[in-house]
Amino acid sequence: MRIIKSSQRLQRIVRQLRKKNKTIGFVPTMGALHEGHLSLIRKAKKENDICLLSIFVNPLQFGPREDFHHYPRPVRSDNLLAKKEKVDIIFHPSGKSMYPSGFLTTVEVAQLSDALCGRSRPGHFRGVTTVVAKLLNIVGPNIMYLGQKDAQQAIILKRMVADLNFPTTIKICPTVREKGGLALSSRNKYLTARHRQQAAILYRSLKEAKGKIKSGERRATAIIRHIRSRIEKMSAGRIDYVACVDARTLVPLQTIRGHVMLALAVKFGEARLIDNIIFKVS
Ligand code: PAJ
Repeated sequence: MRIIKSSQRLQRIVRQLRKKNKTIGFVPTMGALHEGHLSLIRKAKKENDICLLSIFVNPLQFGPREDFHHYPRPVRSDNLLAKKEKVDIIFHPSGKSMYPSGFLTTVEVAQLSDALCGRSRPGHFRGVTTVVAKLLNIVGPNIMYLGQKDAQQAIILKRMVADLNFPTTIKICPTVREKGGLALSSRNKYLTARHRQQAAILYRSLKEAKGKIKSGERRATAIIRHIRSRIEKMSAGRIDYVACVDARTLVPLQTIRGHVMLALAVKFGEARLIDNIIFKVS
């Protein structure tokens, strides 16, 4: 496994791989690797000649009062986990090399970036699209693997790749969860044991809501009310949003039909947790 810090060096290596007709599967992450990340790595490994993992805690996607400085950075254990999964290359750039002084260019996907998480995290998705555009230019992968856990991010990045003609396919992989249903996240480390237990209600309430829709409920307001009341009753979580939207456009639904996404963001202490489920309603 090679650990590369310089983007120029990585670009040289990638050029050589291309000459040899090797396919590259790319998994962008901010590290603190868990089974969710590993599921993407395994898929990339299986479907490509080369599995390339990036680890970069991207300052541009954190708000001024967010956890950039506290975000976990367990470099040694990340490298060990990656090695165990037989990752071929880790790209681990420094903040200075990604954003040298004088850096002025950003990439923004309009509309989609303002919905859901974009409302309470202004500028967040601009940070994500800017760094991923840079990473795609450096890595030039055949396929990029993303998790459904961050569904809005995946939808926005799909739009960006289509709109800006990046020659990369995006594959979205299912959310990996704890036994109780809580979606794995690097931010779960911030949870107290009590909050961690309570946070299981997030996925449970989403599943209950899906059950209600499958039994015939079509009013989005009723579904949202149900999810909110379950979270309020069963946990100390502070709801940021609960939404019922079209899974492709993120436009709120009134009558539930088509490709539906139920999504939520809830704060437990300092940890802001997100989750969603996507399904089709005929
Ligand atoms: P990070 O939060 O480290 O997540 C990296 C990738 O892992 C994302 O595609 C995310 O959706 C996926 N992932 C996280 N938890 C998951 C889970 N429980 N199951 C399945 N996949 C999961 O998302 C980012 O980093 C950054 O915004 C990034 C895209 C790297 C840009 O900086």
